[in-house]
Amino acid sequence: MNDKKYYITTPIYYPSGRLHIGHAYCTVATDAMARYKRLCGYDVMFLTGTDEHGQKIEDKAREAGVTPQEFVDNIVAAPGGVLDLWKLMNISYDRFIRTTDDYHVSAIQKIFKQMYDNGDIYKGSYKGKYCKPCESFWTESQLVDGKCPDCGREVMDAEEEAYFFRASKYAGRVRDLLLNTDFLEPKSRVHEMVNNFIDCEGGLQDLCVSRTSFTWGVPVDFDPGHVVYVWLDALFNYMTALGYQNDKYNDLEQFWPADAHFVGKEIVRFHAIYWPAFLMSMGLPLPKKLYGHGWLNFNGDKMSKSKGNVVDPHLLSQRYGVDALRFFLLRSFPFGSDGNFTNELLIQTINNDLANDLGNLVSRTTAMAEKYFGGTLPGDCRGDEAQDGELLALVKGLRDRYEGQMEKFQFQNGLEEIFKVIQRANKYIDETAPWVLARDMEASGPRLAAVLYNLLETVRVCAVLLTPFMPESCGKIFAQIGAEESARTWDSAARWGVLPAGVSVSKGDSLFPRIDMAKELSELDAIMEEAKKAALPALEVEPFVEEPVDFDTFCKSDFRAVKVKACENVKKSAKLLRFTLDDGTGADRQILSGIAMYYKPEELVGKTLVAIVNLPPRKMMGLDSCGMLISAVHTEKGEERLHLLMVDDAIPAGAKLC
Ligand code: MSP
Repeated sequence: MNDKKYYITTPIYYPSGRLHIGHAYCTVATDAMARYKRLCGYDVMFLTGTDEHGQKIEDKAREAGVTPQEFVDNIVAAPGGVLDLWKLMNISYDRFIRTTDDYHVSAIQKIFKQMYDNGDIYKGSYKGKYCKPCESFWTESQLVDGKCPDCGREVMDAEEEAYFFRASKYAGRVRDLLLNTDFLEPKSRVHEMVNNFIDCEGGLQDLCVSRTSFTWGVPVDFDPGHVVYVWLDALFNYMTALGYQNDKYNDLEQFWPADAHFVGKEIVRFHAIYWPAFLMSMGLPLPKKLYGHGWLNFNGDKMSKSKGNVVDPHLLSQRYGVDALRFFLLRSFPFGSDGNFTNELLIQTINNDLANDLGNLVSRTTAMAEKYFGGTLPGDCRGDEAQDGELLALVKGLRDRYEGQMEKFQFQNGLEEIFKVIQRANKYIDETAPWVLARDMEASGPRLAAVLYNLLETVRVCAVLLTPFMPESCGKIFAQIGAEESARTWDSAARWGVLPAGVSVSKGDSLFPRIDMAKELSELDAIMEEAKKAALPALEVEPFVEEPVDFDTFCKSDFRAVKVKACENVKKSAKLLRFTLDDGTGADRQILSGIAMYYKPEELVGKTLVAIVNLPPRKMMGLDSCGMLISAVHTEKGEERLHLLMVDDAIPAGAKLC
C-alpha cells in the first residue's frame, strides 16, 4: 500500500455564469501540482466542484425563468459548461463535488446541528435594511446610493432572526495558527488577515450562518425557514467529498487533513479564519496548508463580464492549444501575486519559450538524428560525459532544483529552471555544430552521435519535468525521442543515460507553431471588440423622470402634426438638418434639428412628423428654428439610436396632438 498520500483542492466555483481564464488559472495550477505529486509517486486526491446555493443563484434563475436547480445544472453539465471546460483544459481531478448533491446537503445539516448542540451556533438577530415592495433584506454594503439595489426605492432598518457562529471564541487559536505556523502562504497575506479581522477594533466578530430572506440553500432542518449560509455549506465540501458525515465516500482517514487548499486572494479570509474555526468547533484536524494566489487582470484592469474584458479559455485553447495556454498561465505570473494578462504577452510566451526554445530544441535534435543516422543512433553511443560536463551537470541537478520550487508552489521558478537548461542545450547545438561534424562521418561520426545522445537525454529530462504543465505535448515529445515508460518517470529524471544506446527517434509535426504576432493581435482585438458589444445590455432605456408634471403645465405644450415640404443639410454643420414644414397655418415653418447622422434629407420629404410649436425661436448657425421635432431615443449595444416620430399621412398638417 502506498503511504504517500496527497490531498489538494481548488475552490468550488459559483455556477452563476461561464467561467473565465481567471477561474481556469487556479484549476490549472492545482492540476499541475496534482500531476507533479503523482509523478513523484504520491497517491493523489484532487478535488474540485461547484458551489451552487445562495441568493445570487436564486436571483439569476428567476431572471432566466427556470428553477435554481435547472439553472445550475445547465451551467455545470451543459456543453460549454464547467465540466466541459475542465475536460478541455485536461484537468485531472479525481472527484467533483456539487453542493446540491444529496450526500453533501444532509452532511451539512448534521454539521450545523452538531455545532448548535455544542453551543457554537446560537440564535440571534441580524440587523440590516429591508425593502418592503421587494420583500428583500439587504446589508448596508449591498445598497446602491443608500437605496434598494433591485428597485432603487427607500429601504428601512430591519432585523431578521438568524443563527450565528461563535467565531469570537476561536479568535486566539486562529490568530496563533496564522502567526505561529506555516499554515497560510504567501506570508504577505498573514498580517492582512490578522490585522483586519482579528486584531481590529472589536476583535473577531461572530458570523451570521443562516438566512431567512431567500430559500435556495441547505435548509436548517430543526428550524424551517432558515437556510445555511453559503460559506459554511461550501467550506465543508472539502470534507464531505471524502465521506465526512456521509456514506457516499470513505476516504477521510486516508486523505484528511488536506495537504493544500489553493484559493484566490479574495477568499483567503473565509479559508484562513472561519474554516479553521469551524473545524476547531467540530474537533477536527486542520488542513496543512492554505495558499492564497493572486488575481489575473486583463490589460491592467479587473476582469469582469460587465466590462466585456473577460478572457475566454475555450477560445484561447482552440487557437493555441490547451498545453500552450496551461503553460502560459503558470510560466508568466508568480503564483502568489497578481498578474497582468495581455494578448501580447501570451503570444510572446508561446513564440519565445515554446516555439523558439523548446520546439526548436526538439525538432533540431530529432531532425539531425534522422538526417545523419537515419533516426537510429549507433548502438555503442551513450553520450560523452568527459567533453560535455557542464551541460550534463546542469541536467543532472535539474530535478532537485525544480522540486525545491514545486514544493513551494513556485511554478514560475520551477519552469524557469527547466528553460535555463533548454536554452543552454540550444546553445550547445551551436557550440558543437553537428552539421560541421557531419561533414566527416568517419572521423567525427562517434562525436556527432554523442552530441545527439546528450541532446536527447536533455530533452527527455526536461519533458519529464514539464509533464505536469503540458501533459499532452510531453507525451508527443517522448514518442519523438523514443523514450519508453521507464524513461518518463520521476526517478529517471534524476539519472543520466536512461535512453538506450541505439535509441530510435522520429521527427513529428511541429509541436508549437510560431504565431504571427501582428496578425494575431488584430484578430484577437476584433474578437474582443465583438465580445464587448455582446456584453452590453441589448437595450438601455433612459431613466424615467421621477418628478411629476402637473396637468396644466403639460397642456401648455402645443404638439402638432407637420408635413415636410423640404429638407436639406445646413452648410458647415455635420449635424443639422433644415426643415421647411407645413403646419396647417398656410405659412411655412422652419425647424432645425441635429439629426443629420441618422437621416438623409431626401428620405424625409413628404413625411408627417410631430413638432412642439410653442417653444421660443432659437438661432442655430445663424438660422431661426421655430420649434422642435419629436424623436424616440434609446441606446442599443452601446450605440445611441434615434427615430423621428412619424405619424399616419392621413393626419392633416396642423392637427393638434393631445
Ligand atoms: N464559491 C466560492 C469558493 C468557495 S470555496 C469553499 C467562489 N467561487 S468563484 O467562482 O467566485 O471563484 C472561484 C475562484 O476563482 C476563486 O478562488 C477566485 O479567486 C478565482 N478567480 C476568479 N476570478 C479570478 C481572476 N481574475 N484571477 C484569478 N483568480 C480569480 O469564490
